Amino acid sequence: METKVLPAGVKAYDAAKKIILGGGIVAFPTETVYGLGANAYSDDAVKKIFIAKGRPNDNPLIVHLENTNKIESVCSEITVTAKKLIKEFMPGPITIVLKKSPKISNFVTCNLDTVAVRVPQNKYAVEFIKMCGCPIAAPSANTSGRPSPTLAQHVLDDLNGKIPLIIDGGMCDVGIESTVVDASGEAPVILRPGKITAEDIIKVCGKLAPAQKNGKIISPGTKYKHYAPVCDIYLFDAFLAEKAGEFIDKKTAEGLNILAITKNVRNFNLNKIINYQDEFELAKNLYSYLRTWENIYDIILIEKPDDQGMGSSVLNRLLKASGGKIID
Ligand code: TXA
Ligand code: MG
Repeated sequence: METKVLPAGVKAYDAAKKIILGGGIVAFPTETVYGLGANAYSDDAVKKIFIAKGRPNDNPLIVHLENTNKIESVCSEITVTAKKLIKEFMPGPITIVLKKSPKISNFVTCNLDTVAVRVPQNKYAVEFIKMCGCPIAAPSANTSGRPSPTLAQHVLDDLNGKIPLIIDGGMCDVGIESTVVDASGEAPVILRPGKITAEDIIKVCGKLAPAQKNGKIISPGTKYKHYAPVCDIYLFDAFLAEKAGEFIDKKTAEGLNILAITKNVRNFNLNKIINYQDEFELAKNLYSYLRTWENIYDIILIEKPDDQGMGSSVLNRLLKASGGKIID
């Protein structure tokens, strides 16, 4: 199959509509990461997503809608908690989990009685969904186990020949996936952290319940190791920069090639150091950095952002990518 890449615009939406209504799949930009979409009412179309990505069949998909008025058509009940979250944060980089409507395919929800719903803010995503006229089930548009794509090129790198169309909307703004919040009960539960933070949610809902029930993790996706990079990733704390410097000298002496990504200016003995201004800039570029440099360097060493707000959400992805390797 030839994979076409078309710039976001009428021609791309027309082509996308034909594919989606014909039961096919299309990659599209959102403000978080690129998604791989199918008609959420079609079992056969949804199955194609799992095949193209190599996604485990017990990891449910998010249903994307063009506006918040459509939410009631895909769930059976909008709770008080959900109403507050919808009003405050949608459209935007948040996904809420609610009791599902029977109309939504069990292939989307992997037989759970809940559905994850998202109304993106990115204008190309909204146009695409509007044109198709149906809810769009979509995970991130990467091969399972790879970092999420934040550029059309990343989607092409993973899925070339496996999908017919990528709508190119440039670089994603946020760069990490949406905050997933279970809003099906009385108190919201964060299943995956993102740009909308725990602090933001507590401000609106007044409370937050922990993400574990009797020690059991309750989101299917969190049990998967999200990303096994080709090179080693290590993290270091800002206050242990000296230790990081020693680590670099030792590994360099062993003949290993290292790239450092740091917040503060560091005088490490390295040819390449990338600086980031704040956790938002790091989030935006993180997956792109990993995809670009993992085959060139043996080790990528990253200065941890502060563990609060968006910093915590980026740290969540960094801990997964590094497998928890922290210099101490
Ligand atoms: O920003 C995003 O959320 C992107 C864009 C494309 O919208 N999508 C995305 O999808 O990251 P994906 O499939 O890579 O991650 C969806 C997460 C998974 O961890 C999945 O387990 C969880 O949402 N999820 C989906 N449906 C769920 C449900 N009914 N209950 C609990 N968790 C659910
Ligand atoms: Mg994903």
